[in-house]
Amino acid sequence: MRAPLIVALPGNKGLAADLATRLDGELAPTTFHRFPDGERYIRFDTPLAGRSLVLVCTFDRPDEKFLTLAFVADSARDLGARRVGLVAPYLAYMRQDKSFKPGEAVTSVLFARLLSRSLDWLVTIDPHLHRLGALDAIYEIPTQSLHAAPLIARWIVKQIPRPLLIGPDVESEQWVGAIAAECGAPHIVLEKVRHGDRAVEISVPDIGRWPNRTPVLIDDIISSGHTMIEALSQFKQSGMTQAICVGVHAVFGNGAYDALRAAGPARIVTTDTIPHETNDIDVTALLVEPVLSLS
Ligand code: R5P
Repeated sequence: MRAPLIVALPGNKGLAADLATRLDGELAPTTFHRFPDGERYIRFDTPLAGRSLVLVCTFDRPDEKFLTLAFVADSARDLGARRVGLVAPYLAYMRQDKSFKPGEAVTSVLFARLLSRSLDWLVTIDPHLHRLGALDAIYEIPTQSLHAAPLIARWIVKQIPRPLLIGPDVESEQWVGAIAAECGAPHIVLEKVRHGDRAVEISVPDIGRWPNRTPVLIDDIISSGHTMIEALSQFKQSGMTQAICVGVHAVFGNGAYDALRAAGPARIVTTDTIPHETNDIDVTALLVEPVLSLS
């Protein structure tokens, strides 16, 4: 069987090229153009009949990206592609996974339904599964959720002597605990109450028990940055100034990166699920086997 054809959605060329090399696959030459009115023109510059396609699109700023992805997936099928899957290192719309107030749209379910209609499979890294046990609960296609924890642990072991790993909320226990076990380091979990998009309250347990450790705050998503900013401010009050912030997904909404830097962490580090200047942990290798098995 021929190797899969890799299609880079706009903004995803680097990851797609890396994946093509690792999979021994072929990058599909594709033309994306915007008409003056903002509508999208798409052309595959290679025959697709009978081919298995791997679309590559990380889903920060998902509203801008979704329609193009749906056009690409559906037109590929119309042009005879045998299978069309998606590698989305960051999967969006995972946080509104229930109706907290009457009348709210449960966008995790709706987004899953839309993607499931256009795709044969989905591979992602550390989706925000706090209340849902697995993606299968909402996706109607085969999915694989991969974990950056072992690679983050390896980075910490190499870069940070005597770390104390810190999760910002109870939900983070799952990955902070796993990373701590791999690093052979202690970990604690903070208590977080969110009052709004940019308003979080965090309480820090007795951090003074770890005077000679470097605090390493680890979260799955850095979005507004306020979870980390609030935690940093609590650490400072406890006399810990050299904290390192590690995020899996560098979402960084408007102004978030500058605001987090201004809060004074010793360093901000992320994985490359979303291209950003803080990327220092390469997680692309995780994708290879799952993509080969599904494509
Ligand atoms: C929440 O459940 C997540 O794990 C993150 O803590 C949250 O998404 C971070 O968001 P922000 O950067 O806006 O505080």
